Amino acid sequence: MTPANPIGIFDSGIGGLSVAREIRELLPGEDIVYVADSLHAPYGEKSDNYIFQRMSTVTAFLLTRGVKTVVVACNTATTTAISRLRARYPIPIVGVEPGIKPAALSTHTGIIGVLATPRTLQTNSFTTLAERFANNVKIEIQPCPDLVARIEALSFNSDQTITLLKQYIAPLLDKGADTIVLGCTHYNHLSELISEIAGKNVAIIKTDAAVAKEVVRRLSSEGLLAIGDHTGSEEFWTSGSLAAYHQQIEQLWGKSSRCYRWF
Ligand code: DGL
Repeated sequence: MTPANPIGIFDSGIGGLSVAREIRELLPGEDIVYVADSLHAPYGEKSDNYIFQRMSTVTAFLLTRGVKTVVVACNTATTTAISRLRARYPIPIVGVEPGIKPAALSTHTGIIGVLATPRTLQTNSFTTLAERFANNVKIEIQPCPDLVARIEALSFNSDQTITLLKQYIAPLLDKGADTIVLGCTHYNHLSELISEIAGKNVAIIKTDAAVAKEVVRRLSSEGLLAIGDHTGSEEFWTSGSLAAYHQQIEQLWGKSSRCYRWF
């Protein structure tokens, strides 16, 4: 591995692009290889073993692209099996978890709502994370089935998406939450809408920028940060429909992006 190798980032779909965007912002000179495992999304409604198999397959593919690090830009995958992935692949692997800690610091009512996939909320890793803060705050969880599918369809502002969000956010507000954690990277694409629905007295917590900072810290400590004034490039891979991916990337990243199908 050398500093000139690319950074690999993956998610079950386009959620991780929110993390990739923050990484690009902090590291303009790094090449990025992004994989959306769209054919197998949503991960959040699959079993632990299925998710781990997908994480391994995608990581093995990223290694064939020469990546120097892998960013698991998916809360579901991270909470389900990041330690198993690290045990299998001895490279720096950075993950993303729901931002319970920043939420605990931000809440005034002492009640935090967490929106996440059904799988994330069932993992031991999430339970352990939540228990660490259980003495200080009350954590109300809300699984959000079907929401990832709406986001994958680029349905950011449709009546159906708004109805679904209201249905997920209302119980948290009823329980007194003044802080809502977006515990799935897909939801970052809806953060403004979520904030609008939750109201101006509710803080929305995302972790995409914190993950990008952790990537910088990790690469720097490994001596793997790109050097020189090279402008970073991106390549986007999908296991799903290339036509749909082109549309997603064009809308969320920009026109001149290189998209490929990976089998
Ligand atoms: N973006 C993902 C997450 O952060 C996964 C969503 C899914 O595939 O269910 O949890």
